[in-house]
Amino acid sequence: MDNRVAVFRKEHFNAAHRLHNPEWSDELNKKIFGKCNNPNYHGHNYEVIVKVTGVPDEKTGYVMDMKTLSDIIREEVHTRFDHKNLNLDTKEFENLNPTAENIVITIYNLLRKRIDNLLDLHVRLYETERNFVEYPV
Ligand code: NI
Repeated sequence: MDNRVAVFRKEHFNAAHRLHNPEWSDELNKKIFGKCNNPNYHGHNYEVIVKVTGVPDEKTGYVMDMKTLSDIIREEVHTRFDHKNLNLDTKEFENLNPTAENIVITIYNLLRKRIDNLLDLHVRLYETERNFVEYPV
């Protein structure tokens, strides 16, 4: 019998970014990225939903202690990215375009290192209420 259960934790951070490909002309950047290419940056209220899947432990009944999960997300995501300019203030996006796609992959990789490999991990990132991405698919 499959006793696997998914547990979810939602977190929030605010950050600024600019989408820009330095290999392209200003015109092409503006054409591809539109308002998101604004040279003076712009902000988003990001919502992160972390999904951890596994069989509840026999002794605790937990898939994962939610306090531990919350601490890991705070350390790896919130402390690192909240109230930051992703392009200028973080090493993760120094040379990586901070699209929602690249941010969700980055967050996944940061969390994956901290979560038991017996547990599956999926991350969903909302850039706006209507635009969101998920990794892995
Ligand atoms: Ni944006």
